Amino acid sequence: MASYDNKPHADFPIPYKTIEEANSHLIEKPTEEHDAVIATFPLQPFIERPFTFTHPFRLYKGVWISELLLRGILEMQQRFKSRPTDIYLASSPKSGTTWLKAMIFATLTRTSYPLSQHPLHTHNPHQCVPHMERKFATGQSQIMEVIPSPRVMSTHMPYSLLSEFITDSDCRIVYVWRDPKDVLVSLWFFVQKIMGGADKVATFDQFYDLFCQGVHSFGPIWNHVLGYWEESKRRPEKVLFLKYEHILQDPVKHAKQLAHFMGCPYTEAEENDGVVEQIVELCSIKTLKDLDVNKGGNRATSDGPISHAHYFRKGKAGDWKSHMTQEMAERLNAIIGEKFKGSGLQI
Ligand code: A3P
Repeated sequence: MASYDNKPHADFPIPYKTIEEANSHLIEKPTEEHDAVIATFPLQPFIERPFTFTHPFRLYKGVWISELLLRGILEMQQRFKSRPTDIYLASSPKSGTTWLKAMIFATLTRTSYPLSQHPLHTHNPHQCVPHMERKFATGQSQIMEVIPSPRVMSTHMPYSLLSEFITDSDCRIVYVWRDPKDVLVSLWFFVQKIMGGADKVATFDQFYDLFCQGVHSFGPIWNHVLGYWEESKRRPEKVLFLKYEHILQDPVKHAKQLAHFMGCPYTEAEENDGVVEQIVELCSIKTLKDLDVNKGGNRATSDGPISHAHYFRKGKAGDWKSHMTQEMAERLNAIIGEKFKGSGLQI
């Protein structure tokens, strides 16, 4: 296979700087302006072990959102301006966001860097694609303004909320979803890691019960998935609806679909040179997980540093089988099956 590295990369900026690294002077003091309003929104049900996430959830327009990210969303209402060239990666947490961030970023920047020296070797995907509501919650709204077009940003907002911010119908949305049973398991392990141990967080049974009631980060998950599904049926050229398990089965096919959707399809020469396969390899969990930046690095957040390693666990389909009884799986399937009824969607 010919190497993509042989191509000229005239504008190769060394070293790569994230938008945050390049604009640290624009970081402001995080806003507390909306906290009084947020305190009036309904609080998540009480459970003995307090932590289902770093901040409690509040119900906002039918969506359970952590108090921190709600700050960001309310701040966005005052300050966010969409651009027609924007690309939003939307997902429910733990559905494959990190993977898709890597894929989208690598796809867009594939002619700017030799793949062997691509920024993903030294930066976690979350440093390359900013999470909108987190940036706005943490005093980085000005940074979002200076990102050159086309901006690629991620969000966990359901379509019902995101659509309030999109003022131009040309914006594109890539949505990824995943079997909710695996989302739940992944979430439980993730929260344990960020909170520092299993004894610090709700038990799996508590997580499960809350999840079945839709009480989890940006839940209920069924509304999240259905919102983007319906919109992708209405506007398939602007909303790409992907499933984690399908990407796992055929990543090369989906990498091509993604590039085409984003308006930068692979050329015949690139396909012949094996560029698609090289990008898939670069973004695979095996490659990313083994990189020093993802083994040892941290992401500074207002919740404290989050280790990059936390974003990579097994990366498989069906891990729920090791953590859930058949009865639990059937109950959750039935809840979601009922919500999906008539939509044409299946888990
Ligand atoms: P598991 O906990 O099931 O392993 P998110 O990025 O939305 O937070 O989702 C995290 C999940 O995606 C975790 O699932 C993680 O291991 C998996 N993941 C992260 N990077 C991946 C990649 N490059 N390929 C496939 N799965 C990946």
